[in-house]
Amino acid sequence: MPDDFVVTPWEVKGSVDYDRLVTQFGTERITPEILERIRKTTGELHPMLRRGVFYSHRDLNWILDRYEKGTPFALYTGRGPSSGIHIGHMLPWFFTKWLQEKFHAKLYFQITDDEKFLFKDFDNLEDATKVGYDNILDIIAMGFDPKLTSIFLDTEYIHHLYPIAVEVAKRVTYSTTLAVFGFENANNIGEIFYTSIQAAPAFLPTIEAGKEVPVLIPCGIDQDAHFRITRDVAPKLGYPKPALIHTKLLPSLLGPGGKMSASIPESSIFTTDTEAQARKKVMNAFTGGRATVEEQRRLGANPYICSIFAQYNYIFEPNDKNLAIVEETCKSGARLCGDCKAELWEKVRPWLKAHHAAREKAKDHVEEFVVRDR
Ligand code: TRP
Repeated sequence: MPDDFVVTPWEVKGSVDYDRLVTQFGTERITPEILERIRKTTGELHPMLRRGVFYSHRDLNWILDRYEKGTPFALYTGRGPSSGIHIGHMLPWFFTKWLQEKFHAKLYFQITDDEKFLFKDFDNLEDATKVGYDNILDIIAMGFDPKLTSIFLDTEYIHHLYPIAVEVAKRVTYSTTLAVFGFENANNIGEIFYTSIQAAPAFLPTIEAGKEVPVLIPCGIDQDAHFRITRDVAPKLGYPKPALIHTKLLPSLLGPGGKMSASIPESSIFTTDTEAQARKKVMNAFTGGRATVEEQRRLGANPYICSIFAQYNYIFEPNDKNLAIVEETCKSGARLCGDCKAELWEKVRPWLKAHHAAREKAKDHVEEFVVRDR
C-alpha cells in the first residue's frame, strides 16, 4: 500500500492516518479500560486523554501495575531546539505537567542541541545551544515543579549521558538504523549515532537510584522510532524498557495535511508572537466553513477539517460540554467561522499574555532547573 503521508522524527508530511501508524509502528491504542485505570488513580482524566489526543502507548499497563503496587515512575521527555516554541511543541508539555502533578513524578527533560546541530543547518553548535536556553524559558514557564524537574542540554550533560550512549550504540547495528530511519550515504555520522543519545535519559533514573525505576515517555508519535530502538536495547543492558504514551500532532492553522511547523510562521502561534501577530494568525486560519454566509447557514460547516476547531479540541476548550456546543452549532450552521475565530482569540489572548509574563519570570529561575556535568 503506497503511503500518502510520512511520519518520522525528521519529517511529518501529508494527511496523517493515526490509526494506520499504530499498526505500522506496532504500538497499542489507549483503550477505555486503560482510561478507567488512570481515572481511578488520578481522580480525573485529562481532556487530551478523554479526546484521544494522547491515543497510543507502549507498556502503559506495566507502568500502572507497578505504580499501583507502590513503585513510582519517572517521566522523560525532550525538545530539539531548532527554533522558537509554538503551541504544537507545547502540547505534550501540558500533559506532562499534569502527569507530574498527578503522579508526583520526577521529570527528566532533555534538550538536544547536538541533535539539531547535526540535523539542521546551524553553522555553529553554540547557536543550537543558545536556542536551547531560549526554549528552556518556555519549558519553565509551563509551571513544572522545580523540585521534581531536571532540564539538561546534551552538550552540557554529556558526561552523564555518554557512558550510557556508548553501551546503547554497541548494541545497535548500522543495518538497524538504516531500516528504521532510512539513512543515506550523505547523512553525517553524528546523525547515525544520535539515537543512542536520545536513548540514554531513559536509563538515567535507574542508574541514579541504583535500582529499577520505571520510566514513562510522553512524546509525539513521530518520536517513536528512537524509542523502538531504545526498548530493544534495554533488556540487553539490564534496564527496564521505557513505556511510552504518544500524542497526535497539533494540526496546522493553515489546514489539513500538516503539523505546525517552525519554518512556516503562519502555521502556529509562537510563544514570542506579539498579540497582533497571534491575532492575525487566528483570524486568517483555515476553517471548515462554506463559501458564503448564506450557504453556511443553510448547510452548516465541517468542524473535523477546521484548524480552529482543532485548537479548541486539543488545547483551548477543556470543557467537553462547551466543545460539543461548538461542534453542533458549527454543523447546524448556527455559528459562523468568524464567531469561532473571535471566541478562540478570547482564549488565546489571555493565555499568551500570561505565558509572556511567565516566560520573563523564568529568566530568574533557570538555575533551579538546569543540571550540568560541572
Ligand atoms: N528528538 C526530539 C525533537 O526533535 C527531542 C527529544 C529528545 C525528545 N528526547 C526526547 C522528545 C524524549 C520526546 C521525548 O524534538
